[in-house]
Amino acid sequence: MQNRPEPSPLPNGFELTELNPDFLQDPHPILDRLRRDAPRHIHAHAHFPEAPTGLYLTRLADVRKIFADTTLQRDPRSTPPGSLARAFAPPAMLDPAPHGNLLYMDGAEHRRVRGLVSRAFTPKSIAAKRSDIEAIAAHLLEAAAAKPDFDAISEFAAPFPIYVIGDMLGFPRSDMPQFRAWSEDLIFVFNPLRSPDEDRRQMAAFAGLDAYFAEQMAHRRRQPSGDLLSAIIHTRGEGGDTLEDAEISSLLLLLLLAGNLTTADVIGNGLHALITHPQEWAALVADPELAVPATEELLRFGPPVAIAARYVPEDREIFGCPIRQGAAVVVSLLGANRDPEAFEDPHAFRIRRGRRDHAAFGGGAHACLGAPLARLEIEIALRLLATRYPRMRLAAPAIRDRPTIGFVGFRTLRLSLT
Ligand code: HEM
Repeated sequence: MQNRPEPSPLPNGFELTELNPDFLQDPHPILDRLRRDAPRHIHAHAHFPEAPTGLYLTRLADVRKIFADTTLQRDPRSTPPGSLARAFAPPAMLDPAPHGNLLYMDGAEHRRVRGLVSRAFTPKSIAAKRSDIEAIAAHLLEAAAAKPDFDAISEFAAPFPIYVIGDMLGFPRSDMPQFRAWSEDLIFVFNPLRSPDEDRRQMAAFAGLDAYFAEQMAHRRRQPSGDLLSAIIHTRGEGGDTLEDAEISSLLLLLLLAGNLTTADVIGNGLHALITHPQEWAALVADPELAVPATEELLRFGPPVAIAARYVPEDREIFGCPIRQGAAVVVSLLGANRDPEAFEDPHAFRIRRGRRDHAAFGGGAHACLGAPLARLEIEIALRLLATRYPRMRLAAPAIRDRPTIGFVGFRTLRLSLT
């Protein structure tokens, strides 16, 4: 009888991130194997030996259950020393002082701030911005089309959401070059391998934006206007409750951190998918109304946020596995979006699929607050490209070598539009 070869050990820790070159190039063979052989994978992290082992989940149904579980936590301050939550949290989030960063809040504190922002950042106020957003996209694409080829990331996908949010907040056009430079430098926060120079730029961007927001808030308090920043400053809860300046400032930073790189990445990932699936691109060119279902397929097929995490407040069992207090339950949004139990032929890119029930925007209490804006931006980009630039094609091989942990996108994507 022949001996079967031992299966290779299941990947763990940083092997399940963009720091692993195989995962960076294509995470799906690794995630498919986990989903098939260990969908409730015990997640150990060799780099953080004190952190209790947690779970790494790749099935959509499991991911949804975790998002819906209100007993799980997001706030790193509520986890014990040595936890993964503390290791990955920005230092300011471990400060006991109140802050407006929704992503790191739980319970009543989270409901209060989210409720106040939601009164200002409504789907209706976003839909009213359609023609302004179209004008921003058209302007960037016209500049790109005037060249033989261009980098669709740095010349379109990255500046587009930055200009849109700057415009919505009511920042003067003349401030945009500086606002864009700071907003782009913020992304080094997602790169644990940043150089000393990148670290310096990141710190300068935080300080610059903080001072800029303070100035803009003071201006709006003297002279309210119809922009989103005025709406956030003057939003009132049922008991007349408002947001403090420090809360607004950290909320604005979160809008930039959560909204810009993500939207840029999904546009970059999506343009690459369309170009490498010429039949799908031809279908969109023939019928630009398909931009609406195509937006959902871009989000499902190439989600920019790879994972989300929740922390366990006390020793308990999850899906039958004993889990210790402070352990991380990591949900793979990339894995869930390609779950064959949920999506037929999940690795096929089909713009007519149009399923909105993917996991790209997370779920539960922390589900993405900017989803209506992101959807509108993607749809507008697709519609404009399909109607005005049907000859769009790759001008050079795309480069995916960005070690931004948990965020999936191209560094460079050279395209030709004409
Ligand atoms: C395609 C683009 C985007 C994707 C894929 C995306 C994805 C996500 C995900 C997965 C979460 C949940 C994280 C968690 O549960 O741990 C989230 C939260 C959030 N997103 Fe987005 N996002 C996008 C664009 C935006 C935009 C444009 C904005 C705002 C301008 C935004 C603002 C937020 C905020 C404020 C939260 C925190 C909500 C809370 O904790 O209550 N996002 N996003």
